[in-house]
Amino acid sequence: EIPKEISHLIELEELDLADNSFNGRLDMDIFNMSGLRVVSLTNNTLSGNLPPNMCSILPNIERFYMSFTNLVGTIPYSISKCSKLTILELSYNKLTGLIPNSLGYLTHLQYLNLGGNNLTSDLSLSFLTSLTNSRNFTVLDISLNPLNGMLPASMGNLSTYLRKFIANSCKIQGLIPNEVGNLSNLLFLDLSGNNLVGSIPTTIGNLRNLQRFNLSNNKLTGFVGDHICKLQRLGDIYLDQNRLSGSLPNCLGNITSLREIHLGSNKLSSNIPPSLGNLQDLVVLDLSSNNMVGLLPPEIGNLKAITKMDLSMNQFSNGIPREIGGLQNLAHLSLRHNKLQGSIPDSMRTM
Ligand SMILES: *[C@@H]1O[C@H](CO)[C@@H](O)[C@H](O)[C@H]1NC(C)=O
Ligand SMILES: *[C@@H]1O[C@H](CO)[C@@H](O)[C@H](O)[C@H]1NC(C)=O
Ligand SMILES: *[C@@H]1O[C@H](CO)[C@@H](O)[C@H](O)[C@H]1NC(C)=O
Ligand SMILES: *[C@@H]1O[C@H](CO)[C@@H](O)[C@H](O)[C@H]1NC(C)=O
Ligand SMILES: *[C@@H]1O[C@H](CO)[C@@H](O)[C@H](O)[C@H]1NC(C)=O
Ligand SMILES: *[C@@H]1O[C@H](CO)[C@@H](O)[C@H](O)[C@H]1NC(C)=O
Ligand SMILES: *[C@@H]1O[C@H](CO)[C@@H](O)[C@H](O)[C@H]1NC(C)=O
Repeated sequence: EIPKEISHLIELEELDLADNSFNGRLDMDIFNMSGLRVVSLTNNTLSGNLPPNMCSILPNIERFYMSFTNLVGTIPYSISKCSKLTILELSYNKLTGLIPNSLGYLTHLQYLNLGGNNLTSDLSLSFLTSLTNSRNFTVLDISLNPLNGMLPASMGNLSTYLRKFIANSCKIQGLIPNEVGNLSNLLFLDLSGNNLVGSIPTTIGNLRNLQRFNLSNNKLTGFVGDHICKLQRLGDIYLDQNRLSGSLPNCLGNITSLREIHLGSNKLSSNIPPSLGNLQDLVVLDLSSNNMVGLLPPEIGNLKAITKMDLSMNQFSNGIPREIGGLQNLAHLSLRHNKLQGSIPDSMRTM
């Protein structure tokens, strides 16, 4: 157990006990050294909960890390009294109940991770609206919680400093609001594994700094659309396991930063645009399980960095272009279940 005598260290400002095997029931009262600014208890086998008076015990806390610690109970509404908090890390515990709207009083908050708990919210995810008060907010992770709500338009009013919005596997329903496009400094957007419907908002074209875009495993319909091609820093596109139809945009070949394209298990029905061959750094191309047609363009032989190419379960026809033999980094290739014919090119012998 953490020795109670620790509370005699009355000058203590930072306490890091992370990654140990402290156990027993957490008694927050032992941290009543009023000067504590930083506490990390992450990754211990503690039990217990966050007491409603935690902010009177830790009035000056700025950074509080307590993930992987078996915490139970709710996040107390009174958390708002820890008014100097900039980092609150409570991921991978067993917290239940509502994400309190009082988090919005933490105007200095920059980083909030509540992922991997059993937290819920109301239908309009109103805690997101509250968090629009935190003007320096940069990272939000609420993944793997049964939130069961809909993204509010007010999410577009979150801080313009927001860099990561991670909300995968949260049972989020409804549309992706157009206002998502207001988060102009986002680097990572992950809304995968939810029940989102409707189409990808055209406003995502405003997320000029986006590097990773993950809407995989939802129920999105409509076209991928050309707006995605405005994202000239995009590295990874994950749009697999949706109901997207129409064509693979021609302009994808202009996003030369692309490294992974995951568009498998949709209803795409076009051919592969030859311009895709411009993607010199592309490592993964997954177009499997669509209705794509036409011939495999010889330009795919220019994808020199590619290690995985899955074009299976489509309607591609004609022969395998001999240029495929130039893909010397390719480790996984599937052309299974298409309408390809002719001979297997000799050039493949040296792959
Ligand atoms: C927890 O700490 C141990 C070392 O005590 C480390 O090996 C392990 O990777 C840590 N787990 C997590 C989830 O950080
Ligand atoms: C913290 O609690 C202990 C035990 O109740 C008490 O002796 C001590 O005076 C308290 N310290 C502060 C700084 O409040
Ligand atoms: C936001 O960050 C800036 C720069 O670090 C700092 O000066 C300012 O006080 C912060 N504002 C809030 C509300 O925390
Ligand atoms: C999550 O909370 C619900 C009630 O809100 C409960 O029925 C369920 O067992 C909890 N799940 C876990 C993994 O704790
Ligand atoms: C966003 O903030 C502006 C300015 O405070 C406000 O007028 C607008 O209603 C907010 N939008 C939403 C959707 O809440
Ligand atoms: C926020 O997004 C909405 C919907 O796309 C748009 O009408 C509005 O102008 C945007 N606001 C700002 C401040 O960019
Ligand atoms: C995107 O989301 C899917 C489904 O949640 C997940 O398997 C995949 O690892 C995610 N990709 C990245 C780069 O986070």
